[in-house]
Amino acid sequence: MSPRGEAPTTQRAPSIHLFFVMAWLALVGVVAVPRAFGEAAPAAAPSGRLHGQPRLPAVAHKAAIASAYPLASEAGQEVLAKGGNAFDAAVAVSAALAVVEPTSSGLGGGGFYLLHRQRDGFETMVDAREKAPATATRDMYLDKAGNPIADASTEGSLAAGIPGEPAAFEYLARKYGKLPLKVSLAPAIRLAREGFPLYARVQGAIRYKREQLLRSPDAAKVFLTADGAVPELGTLIKQPDLAHTLEAIAAQGAKGFYTGRVAQDLVSGVRATSGIWTLADLEGYRVVERKPLVGEYHGARVVSAAPPSSGGVAVIDALNILSGFDLHAVDATTRKHLVIEAMRRAYRDRAIYLGDPDFVQMPLPQLISPDYAAGQRSSIRTDKAMPSDLLPGIEPEPMGMQTTHISILDAEGNRVAGTFSINLFFGSGYMPPKTGVLLNDTMDDFSIKSGTPNAFALVGNAANGIAPNKRSLSSMAPTFVETPKGLMIIGTPGGSYIISMVLLGTLDYLDGMSAADIVKDRRYHHQYLPDVVDYEKGALSETEIAQLEAMGHKLKEGNRLWGNMEVITWDYASGKVEAASDPRGEGAGLVY
Ligand code: DON
Repeated sequence: MSPRGEAPTTQRAPSIHLFFVMAWLALVGVVAVPRAFGEAAPAAAPSGRLHGQPRLPAVAHKAAIASAYPLASEAGQEVLAKGGNAFDAAVAVSAALAVVEPTSSGLGGGGFYLLHRQRDGFETMVDAREKAPATATRDMYLDKAGNPIADASTEGSLAAGIPGEPAAFEYLARKYGKLPLKVSLAPAIRLAREGFPLYARVQGAIRYKREQLLRSPDAAKVFLTADGAVPELGTLIKQPDLAHTLEAIAAQGAKGFYTGRVAQDLVSGVRATSGIWTLADLEGYRVVERKPLVGEYHGARVVSAAPPSSGGVAVIDALNILSGFDLHAVDATTRKHLVIEAMRRAYRDRAIYLGDPDFVQMPLPQLISPDYAAGQRSSIRTDKAMPSDLLPGIEPEPMGMQTTHISILDAEGNRVAGTFSINLFFGSGYMPPKTGVLLNDTMDDFSIKSGTPNAFALVGNAANGIAPNKRSLSSMAPTFVETPKGLMIIGTPGGSYIISMVLLGTLDYLDGMSAADIVKDRRYHHQYLPDVVDYEKGALSETEIAQLEAMGHKLKEGNRLWGNMEVITWDYASGKVEAASDPRGEGAGLVY
């Protein structure tokens, strides 16, 4: 437990287990020289060359936006038409989603913007993840006996980290965009003031979270009728306080949120309930630029999120494991079995090693190295599942739309993959009076107690334990996949399922599937613990189910669809650009 103001202690995650090291040494017979612990993989290859091959010239092409709701995609289109680039459009689309998809992301939350600047090939990740307040403590969600207090890390203002999204708006506009925030935030302000017609998904979430929303009078005023009922479909949801807060950001940048009137209202609301925020927490929030993680899979370059997201590490580790198999030479069941075994191992690493890079030293270069993956691969049998408890190391509701993703490509070739969240539906459910801002419950993404599953059944240890000012480990995985022939921009909500969905989407793309087919493909998932393969209806045939069970996999058909994937693809030779939004949602992929 660290008292307020004490410098964070740096923990060292356990070293790679001997088991893997031995297997890896035996298999490859060499010891790779790792870069320093915690150092990210090399920056992106410069534009124009890919693995030494000439990249086809970026022919004049179209712009594309894929997001989870048409009004948000249109907000991006509006800003591009005003002379903005992909980075301005990312501000416009994520701000509009904060208004029209309030269940899933917003000013009260955070996320990751993965950027590619076409002019010089520069790639970076803007980390706008929420931070624990300075007075947060390791055991803050445990009772005196050391047991988790029900709902403490998911409901009400104590569950909320210090938001990052408003700081990212100013940062993106100033450093990478071409337009002032007044222009890029204009569509969101308009939507907040004039309202958006209530649609079925948000209505369903209101119904599901009604009791929680009723406990926050300002949230109830926006999302429920005067007598506390769920509004009819098509009711205009107007958010005048949110419009004011957005206007303050448009006028003053991050200061309009993190200082002054809005900050005071946020803190007094939080402290009047159960929360621990201070004005200093807000004023001290900064986004951090981090080097994206880069991997290679059968000639494709995969660029993805760095910690504090586990997304990139896990996707690249799983691809490295799979790179030693010929997935096209095996039958369909074996292919799925191998992908599941790769997921099992990648998620195990997530649980054991990963956390906020500003607090934890992580063996990142090893975790994403092909040699390490070779060691992991050596424990995979092609005919038999390996129970997770045989791997050394240590019933939530998997719902897929409580976060949001945007994929953007502009006509110059600049690109953004951004995933943002307030965590569970409507976050903590708490809206501080007069702010219009729903606070996140991202503190639940910390491991509140070693080995205790969070809302996504993810387990972790001290590497992802709570500490003052620390960022909780995320699964969000905004990703670029680039081959000599073209590129894909991909991401999705889905909590712990994000990683497996981005992995499957990457394999689909490399198999030549179109954007539309990738977003609709049926999904399956394994996250190490619980040791179960969860699958969507239709993802596995009857034969595959029987064969996977015979191999020793425990299977469970999920009773709901998951994910809300947004994909853009660009084929260099033909110049064809496709944008597709997951048919499980009502989003829009626009190409124009
Ligand atoms: O950062 C994370 O991993 C979670 N807060 C994301 C939550 C999420 O995707 C919820 N959606 N289904």
